[in-house]
Amino acid sequence: MSSQNLSFRLGVLISGSGSNLQAIIDAIETRKLPGTEIALVVSNKADAYGLQRALKHRIPAIYLPWNQQSEGAPFVASRSLVSKATISESESRLAALLQLFQADLIVLAGWMRILSPTFLEKFPQRVINIHPALLPDDGTGSTFTTRNGTQIPVFRGLHAVQQALDAGVKITGSCVHFVTPEVDAGPVICREEVAIEKGDTEETLHERLKVVEHRLIVEAVKSFLLPLSGGNDRYCQIYT
Ligand code: GRF
Repeated sequence: MSSQNLSFRLGVLISGSGSNLQAIIDAIETRKLPGTEIALVVSNKADAYGLQRALKHRIPAIYLPWNQQSEGAPFVASRSLVSKATISESESRLAALLQLFQADLIVLAGWMRILSPTFLEKFPQRVINIHPALLPDDGTGSTFTTRNGTQIPVFRGLHAVQQALDAGVKITGSCVHFVTPEVDAGPVICREEVAIEKGDTEETLHERLKVVEHRLIVEAVKSFLLPLSGGNDRYCQIYT
């Protein structure tokens, strides 16, 4: 919480529909996230429906055109090869906006752009992401053991829902995790398993995952409020 602010301020980054953003808005409006407000919504897509959702609720919403080109350094696709000192102009602007609007926590709610280590260093332990697949507790590794003891691969990246279908696993899920320089590999805050049904397509499965995510993202944000209100457990319960 910023010293001049009485509330816990979220910066929510989106690229599309913004149904998870809506879940946060609804939770705030129904007092499930006391003392929390959305300071700012940023989208890298001008036509992201999430921007309309924000504006409908009188939340500042900004379209930030995204160019990943780093200043003074060639863009390198593998983030492990990106020099720590590089940050794109778009990222600099994003960081400045989040600082200007005094965001205490940055929520990637369907944000489809990779953030550089330099950007993340500006907001340590303050950037979280929703991922539509199951990650292990510490976020690393290539396998996940489900509640019934089955080992499944860890699906990362943009096509995690389709990857789960292609792999023929029976269980997948979603989680909220801290963002670290490695993509979809940060410590898990909340997680919930979802059964894959016969005949599921990427769309039907993703819709069911989103229903779970709408609950998880609220729980995850709430876990940041507990320490502020005297609780001693930053992590919310992990639903496995
Ligand atoms: C969610 O499924 C999330 O897991 C993924 O992007 C999707 C965003 O959906 N990272 P929405 O824009 O919140 O509806």
